[in-house]
Amino acid sequence: MSGKKSIKYSEIKAKLGIVSNNKMGDDVAYFTHYLQNTDTKDSIYYIEQAERFIAEQCDKLGLDKERVAKEFTNVDWSEVPFPPVKNPKFTFIDLFAGIGGMRIAFQNLGGKCVYSNEWQPYAKITYEANFGEVPFGDITKVDANTIPNHQVLLAGFPCQPFSIAGVSKKNALGREHGFKDLTQGTLFFDIVRILEAKNTPVFLLENVKNLISHDKGNTFKIIKGTLEDLGYTIYPKVLDGKYFVPQHRERILIAGFRDKTFNHNEKFDFPEMPKPTAIVRDIILNEVDKKYTLTDKLWNYLQNYAIKHKEKGNGFGFGLVDFDGITRTISARYYKDGSEALIPQKGKNPRRLTPRECANLQGFPPEFIIPVSDNQGYRQFGNSVVRPLIQAVGEKLVKSLLSANEPPKSKKSVR
Ligand SMILES: C[S@@+](CC[C@H](N)C(=O)[O-])C[C@H]1O[C@@H](n2cnc3c(N)ncnc32)[C@H](O)[C@@H]1O
Repeated sequence: MSGKKSIKYSEIKAKLGIVSNNKMGDDVAYFTHYLQNTDTKDSIYYIEQAERFIAEQCDKLGLDKERVAKEFTNVDWSEVPFPPVKNPKFTFIDLFAGIGGMRIAFQNLGGKCVYSNEWQPYAKITYEANFGEVPFGDITKVDANTIPNHQVLLAGFPCQPFSIAGVSKKNALGREHGFKDLTQGTLFFDIVRILEAKNTPVFLLENVKNLISHDKGNTFKIIKGTLEDLGYTIYPKVLDGKYFVPQHRERILIAGFRDKTFNHNEKFDFPEMPKPTAIVRDIILNEVDKKYTLTDKLWNYLQNYAIKHKEKGNGFGFGLVDFDGITRTISARYYKDGSEALIPQKGKNPRRLTPRECANLQGFPPEFIIPVSDNQGYRQFGNSVVRPLIQAVGEKLVKSLLSANEPPKSKKSVR
């Protein structure tokens, strides 16, 4: 970058009156994506709407729009914990981004995120605080051509059943259909149409382990068939986060390589899992506010509930953690009662993990900012990924991507 004076991201926000709140819509998404890409060719995807937004805000605030727009071309990201990667080795997009667990992993591997999408307002707040970028909203409304070319697509998409209703009608009319037809109207279909429109060379999808058995195996069969019909070789594997963090968390990861790009030479393999050494003691804080201790009412309720279920022969109740062991899977419902993982306390009722401890349990770095309420924080970390597991898989995936005989060049995706 030139010797031009830089401006801090927070100063830009203050100047344009941008407030981090749950009303951050696509205008701010365009603007922040533009800021992240002022020095790359991908700015063309965002510049028009960003300039319109700057002009509107300047008009409202009585500022000189031309001068202001020029100031924004050299952004100082030093206050943002996970700023855009300079001189990237590859590019990626972050779909169903949540709070960006997959993004941190792939930035750590040298990738630059050129597009993010997440519609949940509070997840957007957390995302913006950590990356200086507001994700775009509702993926079902996004035209795939407005997404920059990229080398890796990341998506931890929600699991939905596929309806076969419309297909039998099409069959009756004698129309040909592939697996793709079966995915219409689902969020997986949105991944498919982006892969198809952008000819994405590599993807990594993440989902619950149940995806394999969901709807008697039908869901996974359709996902696999659709991706193969699209011309990808896929590698699915269930992996447990416990090899990296003190949490039992099994998730299916599906890596995919485009046959036209790699010609089946990708040589991808999932990593060997390291020896599990992480224990709960490693992730808990020394001093914790008393608000995290369960009330007598809730603690009694959980104990009675557990007794009732034991009598019925169901093992599931609350989980008191062993400091030298690992926890159960933290889910988005942890905020309700914390029953999946309770910390025993001497002479007191047990307590929940704090949101920061949940961040630790998912392998998020300590500099990760949690700007939302405890309840939102629990939901966000419960929905997220074991960051070091994603990074270990990502390392193999990026190695295959970069060492392929034929790097992706024809689709304008290499800078
Ligand atoms: C399982 S979470 C993924 C979390 C992410 N991997 C992380 O590290 O935080 C799935 C996300 O998809 C988002 N989502 C669901 N439907 C969406 C839609 N139509 N458009 C955009 N995002 C959507 C949800 O809000 C949720 O945050």
